[in-house]
Amino acid sequence: MGRITASCVEKILDSVRIEEVIGDFVQLKKSGSSFRGLSPFSQEKTPSFYVVPSKQIFKDFSSGKGGSAVTFLMEHEQLTYPDALRWLAKKFNIEIEEEASSEEADEARNQRESLLSVNAFAAKQFSSWMWEDPMGRSIGLAYFRERGFTEETIRRFELGYHLEGRSVFFDTAVAAGYQAEFLVGTGLSIAREDGSHVDRFWGRAMFPIHSLGGRIVGFGGRVLKSDAKTAKYLNSPESEIYHKSRVLYGLFQAKQSIARADRCYLVEGYTDVISLSQAGVHNVVSSSGTALTLEQIRLIKRLTENVTLLYDGDAAGVRASFRGIDLLLEEGMLVRAVPLPAGEDPDSLAQSMDTEALQAFLQAQEVDFMQFKSDTLWVEAGEDPIRRADMVKDIVGSIAKIPNAILREVYLRDSATRLGMDERSLFAELDRLRASDVRASERNRDRQRNEAPQLVVVPPPIVDQRPPAVEEELMRLLLLHAHERISMPIEGEEPLQDAAGAIILDDLAADEMTFEFGPYAQLHRAMQEAWQQEERLLSGEFFSRHPEPAIASVVAELLTERYALADWKRKNIFIQDRSEGLSKHVEECLLRFKELRLSGMIKQVTNQLGNAQEESDRATLLQEFTSLQEVRNRLHKKLNRVL
Ligand code: CTP
Ligand code: MN
Repeated sequence: MGRITASCVEKILDSVRIEEVIGDFVQLKKSGSSFRGLSPFSQEKTPSFYVVPSKQIFKDFSSGKGGSAVTFLMEHEQLTYPDALRWLAKKFNIEIEEEASSEEADEARNQRESLLSVNAFAAKQFSSWMWEDPMGRSIGLAYFRERGFTEETIRRFELGYHLEGRSVFFDTAVAAGYQAEFLVGTGLSIAREDGSHVDRFWGRAMFPIHSLGGRIVGFGGRVLKSDAKTAKYLNSPESEIYHKSRVLYGLFQAKQSIARADRCYLVEGYTDVISLSQAGVHNVVSSSGTALTLEQIRLIKRLTENVTLLYDGDAAGVRASFRGIDLLLEEGMLVRAVPLPAGEDPDSLAQSMDTEALQAFLQAQEVDFMQFKSDTLWVEAGEDPIRRADMVKDIVGSIAKIPNAILREVYLRDSATRLGMDERSLFAELDRLRASDVRASERNRDRQRNEAPQLVVVPPPIVDQRPPAVEEELMRLLLLHAHERISMPIEGEEPLQDAAGAIILDDLAADEMTFEFGPYAQLHRAMQEAWQQEERLLSGEFFSRHPEPAIASVVAELLTERYALADWKRKNIFIQDRSEGLSKHVEECLLRFKELRLSGMIKQVTNQLGNAQEESDRATLLQEFTSLQEVRNRLHKKLNRVL
């Protein structure tokens, strides 16, 4: 068997719902946004085994094990990494793609990396054009400001502006060392037959599109000239890194909020996502320009089963929401909708009221999918009996998609009341539809056929010693907040503005500091490698998928329930000014981390002093001791200032 391709591994990991995997081996009970059960690795009586779907991890507090669905299978079923992936592929009906040879694999990986690094460069370029170039400011920035986007919002979504000019981006990127091949590969530039290149997006406001893990896989670009004859929005073409059917705009920024709120708002466009988020409704994503796909629904389903559609009030919007409803129901989602007044879209709505009014509106207006459909169709059908009959069929058709029999029945009875129909005739219609929908039922059977492998009980390992608190906190910051921009004061200079992860890693590297706690030291090395080799910061999710079980396990531990709760509290403290709060917190942690190291060093020197025989040794040690003390004093002063 060949190696599984990187894109296939990604597809598998993106489709995994860890609670379903572990649910095959452990009885899980929902508790808040996570699941709880009895540890399969020990003989406990009170459940201390947690599964956290929003982070796709499990943590067993009785044995200390933790990690991703993959590490669970490796531990529990004693599978190898590739076999665990194959097991998951089978369970979630994903076809395994294998590589022909490892050279080809390397090449494909390099190719993907090159495309991603072009996109990362491009986003930075578009952002600096918008903030720093006079044209960029007067056209791009002015546009976003006019739309009511604040600076914080613009930065959060990394919005930018592509200067005008046939090949202005192409030329800039080539001058910065990027190869034409990859500029064309990302679709940012287009190769002409005469050998010249033109840019796809020039003169447009730019919306970077992130993968779940936060890397930029594509862009949307909006025209700013009202007389333009081209499409209002252009999107990156499909490429090895951009599959529009597998991406949801805003998901990277929204995933935590979706899991916390246990609900996801689904809208149509970029600006809908951004405006709602700015108005405080962060749990929102968009399929941006394409009809909702199965893969997109599965991405959401990993975080929540509750979806609320928020589509334009016009006919096209309603039709689009009807299509979305059926697909969502088929995947077992609980679907609601908020009907919008004609002429409004979520963007205009969010801009027209404050956060409280918006939240109240969304709550008050929300209806379940059936009421949404029947209200809309009822108006359309009017008094015409034939159209009313069609409407009933349409609604029963949606109910027929629901995989859960009990839910189906509840909805059917409810709709009978609502539509003033005899339940029996609706049930007859339902049976007819379900019988004829052979394909759907076959698909469901396929899904259920994945019988679980044999249960193997593994003895619990010895529980590791605990890491120092500040190491734990710093690690958690790296895993949860690496991508958030913060500002760090530097003596006698302008404050440094960068991603929190970059600031932490660089600061530790500058002082050649490492973590004391073994597993963290290992994780820190993996992070540094990713940062040095690929100039990218990776998220907790990435490391919880790490093939090295020791790494996946500490990551899981840092991300699980007990800690996630603390994190949530911290976030609430940040809410006043989140980035300022985070900046201070990072600064404090770095200082405390250094203090811990220094204290260790001072202790060591003190010990050596006590044992030193030679006078000259003592003198050197004493000198070292004094200078370490000095450094520590300076550190204390800084710490006092931060606190
Ligand atoms: N869209 C697209 N291509 C188009 C038009 C629309 O990809 N030619 C997608 C975009 O993702 C857009 C969404 O469909 O955000 C909704 O379209 P529309 O309602 O026309 O755009 P708005 O988001 O309302 O954009 P704006 O407010 O900037 O006009
Ligand atoms: Mn709009």
